[in-house]
Amino acid sequence: MFKTDIVSKFKNTPTPFYYYDVDVLKQTLELLKKESDKYGFIVHYATKANSNNKILDIIRSYGLGADCVSGNEIKKAIECKFDPNHIVFAGVGKSDAEINIALDYSIFCFNCESLQEMEVINELAKAKGTIANIALRINPNVNANTHKYITTGLEENKFGINLWELESVTTALKELKNLKLIGLHFHIGSQITDMSSFKSLCMKVNEIQSWFVSHKITIENINVGGGWGVDYHEPDKNRFVDFAAYFKLYNDFLELRPGQKVHFELGRAVVAQCGTLISKVLYIKKGVNTNFAILDAGMTELMRPALYQAYHKIENLKQYQDTSIKYQDLKYDVVGPICESSDCFGKAVNLPETFRGDIIALRTAGAYGEVMSSAYNLRDRVKSVYSDEL
Ligand code: LLP
Repeated sequence: MFKTDIVSKFKNTPTPFYYYDVDVLKQTLELLKKESDKYGFIVHYATKANSNNKILDIIRSYGLGADCVSGNEIKKAIECKFDPNHIVFAGVGKSDAEINIALDYSIFCFNCESLQEMEVINELAKAKGTIANIALRINPNVNANTHKYITTGLEENKFGINLWELESVTTALKELKNLKLIGLHFHIGSQITDMSSFKSLCMKVNEIQSWFVSHKITIENINVGGGWGVDYHEPDKNRFVDFAAYFKLYNDFLELRPGQKVHFELGRAVVAQCGTLISKVLYIKKGVNTNFAILDAGMTELMRPALYQAYHKIENLKQYQDTSIKYQDLKYDVVGPICESSDCFGKAVNLPETFRGDIIALRTAGAYGEVMSSAYNLRDRVKSVYSDEL
């Protein structure tokens, strides 16, 4: 839902651009903090979802930590004043250079995905005369019931240490004197809307914890990752995810040992709804069975529809300016300017009669939108505009 004065301002801003509603972001963070604080849960924001400085600054100001997946994300988090002691570093392929960056900043924890990676971190930590905190990222073999490209917790996926490797990994770990095991880490996937997947994760974590207890290995931190999905279909009705239900589920089902802390790594649920890709219609073209609305934004600005066949609600913003506009049964294939047919934001999208120059919004684009944009076709990198600066 956009106010008419905002739409007028969009008209005077060169398109395409990402528009971020700072109030929506702040309200999301307030809800998140209120609900996670109830249980003393610690949330690390998954910086990969959106790493704009201003977004990171706001998120840090609410006391969240940072979940990073590259050396550059760690540097960015530090630049945006995240406390190194609240930074976790995940990823199945951490390079030596990236590990060294993390060691130099003494981050809170490396989420380790294989024994070989642990051996490398141990060696690099030894060379620096330091001890690295690590968590074992365990692949719990729990189905997230989401798109296969963003499913990460099944045995067939490349992520984490498999359950049958626990014995050998924990035995080998005893010899890696420059590593300190401080936790277990799990992440089963992204855009998960079926709560039962998280319940299954809790049950699996409980089983795995028993294994560690029986082996007399103390675990201080349980990191259950992120993955809570948002409503791409009804962004106004469901602007905020149900943080209360999400955190309560973990509180109800995780069996914690005395003193254990629970960590989360949420990305999409924090930033998706505050961002919109704003674009202009360049041309309307008649096709054989459809009309094409050709936008000045394409898969270069928002790749999710092309990559995951993801749905983003598409709106012609003149409906917010002129309420007399009636939806006739007009359907458009809403496409971008890039030279391939995957460059399509939506097929047979219901829109009011649409003309060259109309402003089109692609909603729920704050997460994995701008960060995944590219310069393919040598296009200019997409800009961002914030509600409090318009
Ligand atoms: N922790 C780890 C280890 C992760 O791999 C991810 C996301 C997260 C946390 C944050 O997940 P979230 O709460 O945002 O679901 N580009 C895809 C999403 C990829 C997610 C990758 N990992 C998309 O556009 O849907």
